[in-house]
Amino acid sequence: MADKQEPQDSAGQVSEAQIAVHWREEEYIYPPESFVQQANAADPAILERFTEDKFPDCFKEYADLLTWDAPWHTTLDTSNAPFWKWFVGGKLNASYNCVDRHAEASPGKTAIIFVPELESDEHVEISYSDLLRRVNEFAAVLRDNLGLKAGDRVTLHMPMVPELPVTMLACARLGVIHSQVFGGFSGAACGHRIADSSSRILITMDGYYRAGKLSDHKVKADEAVAVASQEGQEVGKVLVWRRHPGQYASATPMAEGRDVFVDELLGGHRGKTVAPVSMPAEAPLFLMYTSGTTGRPKGCEHSTGGYLAYVAGTSKYYQDIHPGDVYWCMADIGWITGHSYIVYGPLALGTTTVIYEGVPNYPDGGRPWRIAGKLGVNIFHTSPTAIRMLRKVGPEEPRKYDYHFKSMTTVGEPIEPEVWRWYHAEVGKGEAAITDTWWQTENGGFLGSTLPGLQPMKPGSCGPGVLGVYPVIYDEDGNEVPTGKAGNICIRNPWPGTFQTVWGDPERYLDTYYRKYNTNPDSKDWHDWPYFCNDGALQAADGYYRILGRVDDVINVAGHRLGTKEIESAALTVPEVAEAAAVPVIDDIRGRVVEVYVSLKPGLEPGKALEGKVSTAIDNEIGKIARPKNVWIVPDMPKTRSGKIMRRVIASISNFADVGDVTTLANPEIVNTIRQHVQSSKVASDDVPRELTEAEFEEIKKFGGE
Ligand code: WTA
Repeated sequence: MADKQEPQDSAGQVSEAQIAVHWREEEYIYPPESFVQQANAADPAILERFTEDKFPDCFKEYADLLTWDAPWHTTLDTSNAPFWKWFVGGKLNASYNCVDRHAEASPGKTAIIFVPELESDEHVEISYSDLLRRVNEFAAVLRDNLGLKAGDRVTLHMPMVPELPVTMLACARLGVIHSQVFGGFSGAACGHRIADSSSRILITMDGYYRAGKLSDHKVKADEAVAVASQEGQEVGKVLVWRRHPGQYASATPMAEGRDVFVDELLGGHRGKTVAPVSMPAEAPLFLMYTSGTTGRPKGCEHSTGGYLAYVAGTSKYYQDIHPGDVYWCMADIGWITGHSYIVYGPLALGTTTVIYEGVPNYPDGGRPWRIAGKLGVNIFHTSPTAIRMLRKVGPEEPRKYDYHFKSMTTVGEPIEPEVWRWYHAEVGKGEAAITDTWWQTENGGFLGSTLPGLQPMKPGSCGPGVLGVYPVIYDEDGNEVPTGKAGNICIRNPWPGTFQTVWGDPERYLDTYYRKYNTNPDSKDWHDWPYFCNDGALQAADGYYRILGRVDDVINVAGHRLGTKEIESAALTVPEVAEAAAVPVIDDIRGRVVEVYVSLKPGLEPGKALEGKVSTAIDNEIGKIARPKNVWIVPDMPKTRSGKIMRRVIASISNFADVGDVTTLANPEIVNTIRQHVQSSKVASDDVPRELTEAEFEEIKKFGGE
């Protein structure tokens, strides 16, 4: 990392100042009085309770939302800094907290509403007592048929169906660490994660509905098992849930002795109960893999007590979830947003959470609003990409439906003020408070947001640090940058939702997040360990942050983090490819999309077939989500004299932006050749991007460092 920071910084100084200059301040927008009246955080005294002098004990307020089997004796243990331990000595069970205690208090209350993608299929309501029964029965399968026990890892590769939270909660009941891989990821991507977490069990589903079709999902399990085995991890059993129990939806055969249908196993456990295992607060609850600078995804390890307390607290105060609400987060449970804000946060609070199987615009752009109207959803949570897409396919659609949101969330990428305003005026009908929540897989829960009843909204800014989270913006040397200037946003203190380590790789945890701004590696004082978020940001005079995006080699496609290195190594699995470089292209719907440049081994000819091969390799290695918009086969890559590929030059070409000074390259003449090839093809296929904003231009100009 160090070698690339220097030049990036010197190039960055001017540009960051320019961003600040060109950033227009937006006006505050206030929620209606009716919202404020009922808000969980309506009394400004809450802000006082979380000031820095009250840290870390302030987080007792979050932990008190849970039921503990044994109380903690130490709120924050920093003795092995920066491997933080929260609520040490405390014991609890996450499944008990999300299910049993609500099933005892109000058994008939709906926990989950499942909305199948096909509109002709009725939605399914699962009460807390139904959920308790299902979680118990499946926990019995895990324990009695598979011999799983606390601390074991299990990989899940499941779609958006209620069987997914049932599986997660059954694992949690036993203290088994679940690692759910996004269902849209390929079998190979799942296999790498199985191997990294050394799971001997894979839990999947035969198929699911997406854009109107029942897809074959089980086929990916066979590939996942094969890839894991190549990496030295054998999977002994594959549990296959059936989308329609009793009817197998996949063309892939069940492997004898290895694959089992869950509905058949469940038959032997009807009505069984499994006592929730009382886990130390510090026991890992789950792993969630995410992309970073290097090719290998990182398994972020999240704790039981700190994590659950944090998602319960932030769900309560930021999403304003009350037990009587019907809450719908349209993210996928396969991402951290779904773990925290579809499953664990809302269920810990005993509310009703909606799970929708399919794509938001199936069969048309009115679908989300019909679902909201029919189910009485009053809290809505989605991403800027979904908002942009719904705005495009049906700008007038929300008006046609009689639903009312009191609060709405956006997450995952920066939201343009224009898009924000449509969300507010049309989707929220001007009645809903919006929280723009900034955070990351590593964090467990929100880092930056407004408290909806107490702090006004500002389009395009997430807001200040959330309760008990104290951000700071540093330059490359660790000096605080002045207001209005961009730099690297860090969090000065640990918070209960933060991950505990990178699974199996504590060095990577230290390197990626903590070494950059730590000056004393022996320090046991949290003040010496700022957490480096790997995001650029600037702070306005009012303390609100505007997040500018990743400063590492991550491309945020539709709110999903894709590592350039992962995409490039997938392209390099094609035998003809000599070199590969992935770059972001500005996209009006998905925020960014990926384009891949490849050069071929000597003597090979470019052609459509090879481009297709590269795309397919990326589909197979990662998943369709990473599929490049274009694959450009070029005679050579623009390189520095030391041989480094200049990603910013090709990123500029892809975006029709000025490439800047290229005279110092080893092969400056190649730039024009590439530009002509790429830009003339784009012009011919009517694929010329709109003019970039200042901030976008700066991002492209800096992409990849140097
Ligand atoms: C970006 C998703 C601007 C950011 C919860 C971060 C955002 C990365 C926002 C994490 C937001 C997330 N405004 N940018 N409200 N929320 N990001 O790990 O660059 O999938 O580092 O977690 O998304 O993505 P991840």
